[in-house]
Amino acid sequence: EQVRVFAPATVANMICGFDILGFAVDAPGDEVTMTKVEQLGVRITSIKGDDGRLPLDPDQNTVSACAMKVLEDLGLADEFGIEIELVKHMPIGSGLGSSSASTVAGVFAINALLGNPLTKEELLPYCIEGERLACGHGHADNVAPALMGGITLVRSYEPLDIVALPVPDGMYAGIVFPHVDVPTRDARQLIKDRVALKDAVVQWGNVAGLIAGLYRNDFALIGRSMQDVIIEPVRAILIPQFAEMKEIALSHGALSFGISGSGPSVVAITQSEEAAQTITQEIKKHLDQQEIDSNTYVSAV
Ligand code: HSE
Repeated sequence: EQVRVFAPATVANMICGFDILGFAVDAPGDEVTMTKVEQLGVRITSIKGDDGRLPLDPDQNTVSACAMKVLEDLGLADEFGIEIELVKHMPIGSGLGSSSASTVAGVFAINALLGNPLTKEELLPYCIEGERLACGHGHADNVAPALMGGITLVRSYEPLDIVALPVPDGMYAGIVFPHVDVPTRDARQLIKDRVALKDAVVQWGNVAGLIAGLYRNDFALIGRSMQDVIIEPVRAILIPQFAEMKEIALSHGALSFGISGSGPSVVAITQSEEAAQTITQEIKKHLDQQEIDSNTYVSAV
């Protein structure tokens, strides 16, 4: 028996909602092919598209480690084994939820192979553990939208409480990945663990404004709410040409612009696919002039 599962890239934080908000895009994404075999244990038989960077050791690779945990918890690890092929279609350390896409595809695949004994809600904690293995912290703002689709809110981590949010018609994301490596682990260490009350007030005003905007289909409100006064000022220094890219995006009609996840990818939110295309191409042109390679992606939210 064999299943093949695709899971999408995700834009975590949605600029103002550090560790609580995220959305899925149509593409890129990762693909996991999982085969049930007689030989016990979980093995990775091939990884493509990672430039040799991901571990093949089944305890260290998030796809195999999470699949194993599901098998063990269901009491099936002594009955059969699993072989995994992973194809990555997106860069690692890019801020696009690369590890999440692989983990979610893997956890979804093992569940499908077993005849779907677990609900998506029950699969989510396994995916969060995968994130912990990948970067040392179990945030859910990539894995929740990768698993559920659309826009998700992590209302609480303990207990885990995930809320699906409405996606306004005609909301697009233009994403640019400048080719510098920013591991999530490092980008998290930069952030201070104390926040000034005046900044917190601005930020929770923005989060609340964004949620209201999503429910009201109010793009102006969405745009002015998607701003980050806490994380962006610290992390932007890791991203080449951040201020220049923001200027280009806003001057070409982006509703909002900021860091995707922990970066270095950046995201422009627009009200049309055309605007997202123009913005990503203009940013790419600028980065080319600076001799910085980049990839661009445009997707409906
Ligand atoms: N919320 C996480 C962070 C997402 O910003 O560190 C990482 O992709």
